[in-house]
Amino acid sequence: MKFLIFSHRFFGVRMKRFWFTALLASLWGGLCYGATIDTKSLGYNGGENAHPHNLSSLNTGGGIHAPSGGETQICKFCHTPHGAASKPLWNRPDPVGPNGDGSFPLYGGSDDLVIDDPEVVGDSKYGQNPYPNGASRMCMSCHDGVTAIGEVVNGPEVQLNREMSVEGTIDLSVSHPISFVYNSTVAGLINAQKNNGGTNTYQLPGSNALLDGQDRMQCNSCHNPHVDTRNDSGTYDLPMWRKYTGVENVDYEWTCEQCHVGGSTSAGIYWGSPTVNDHHDLISP
Ligand code: HEC
Ligand code: HEC
Ligand code: HEC
Ligand code: HEC
Repeated sequence: MKFLIFSHRFFGVRMKRFWFTALLASLWGGLCYGATIDTKSLGYNGGENAHPHNLSSLNTGGGIHAPSGGETQICKFCHTPHGAASKPLWNRPDPVGPNGDGSFPLYGGSDDLVIDDPEVVGDSKYGQNPYPNGASRMCMSCHDGVTAIGEVVNGPEVQLNREMSVEGTIDLSVSHPISFVYNSTVAGLINAQKNNGGTNTYQLPGSNALLDGQDRMQCNSCHNPHVDTRNDSGTYDLPMWRKYTGVENVDYEWTCEQCHVGGSTSAGIYWGSPTVNDHHDLISP
């Protein structure tokens, strides 16, 4: 279904919207009335759960959400069945960003990057307008730390107990590069230039679900915004992790290895000792 929705290849706009609305409605219906809902999902226990993306007043946890008596719809903060800003029935305004004009910094350690090399940018499209794009731009409409979380396209602003935290604010200049095309041409160019001292080898992911419909890496190559994977006991710290077996290091390595041959500890890709526990800064020492 996901492939059909994002591929642009099978349906005209009207059909796509119809199928998407039907999908959203059935998913929401399932969340409301279904008997078995995964305990990590957004709608678990009638919405009475502390999923960090459950911003409704049903959220019984200590995080950001509407105060008691306030908004009870969970999906509304990101989706709307009517009058959406874009796919997938998106209900958020375009992010303001740290510069106040919708622009964002590129990954700052980019001296070694091949994807932003002038000869490669035509293929990788890294940093080209709009940047970030796709699902990542949707994420940054809250994770820029500037755009009000309760602001929606369809309806009045929703009141919340507080705005985005410092930890939740993502600085793209120190985060893994995103919103670039990663296909066999780009991987071939990276390997030909042998970045990072000639030791790194790149491959295409075995699972193409890691890339979006235009072969781009995005925030959701690593994360799934609908699934709350981090646990309270500290035995699993990867937040909203797309690949989930329940064993943290296995899931982390699986993700990196999809593209970086040798995984997170291969020469050059991690300066310092790999830890998933500090902050979003995957790249610098
Ligand atoms: C915090 C934001 C956020 C919330 C809240 C949210 N979604 Fe999403 N949703 C997204 C983003 C971003 C995408 C597109 C990227 C992706 O698929 O991961 C998406 C995609 C989808 C899709 C397309 C299929 C897919 O998984 O790719 C469906 C269906 C969907 N959401 C249903 C829901 C339902 C139902 C709810 C409420 C229970 C909900 N979402 C709440 C952010 C959100
Ligand atoms: C409607 C606003 C909104 C959107 C859109 C949104 N988020 Fe979030 N996200 C939040 C809030 C609020 C938190 C909790 C932050 C806090 O409490 O510090 C959060 C937390 C997270 C966390 C940390 C979870 C944890 O267990 O600590 C991750 C990872 C995350 N978001 C990823 C994403 C990704 C990836 C996208 C896009 C696919 C996205 N978010 C879109 C509002 C949003
Ligand atoms: C290459 C994989 C990868 C990509 C791409 C990625 N993240 Fe993360 N993200 C992680 C990891 C790993 C963590 C856990 C870091 C930690 O706790 O030290 C994390 C943590 C987070 C958190 C929790 C806050 C924190 O500092 O722990 C948020 C919020 C988040 N990511 C949002 C995003 C957004 C938004 C994007 C896209 C702009 C994104 N991520 C892209 C791997 C990734
Ligand atoms: C979908 C493919 C993909 C996945 C998954 C992925 N990466 Fe990357 N990563 C890339 C590409 C492509 C580059 C840019 C390489 C270039 O231009 O030289 C990159 C760049 C990096 C860099 C920057 C290297 C530099 O020279 O500054 C680091 C560090 C990194 N990745 C770590 C990770 C880690 C850790 C994970 C797992 C949590 C991960 N990556 C997952 C494709 C991926």
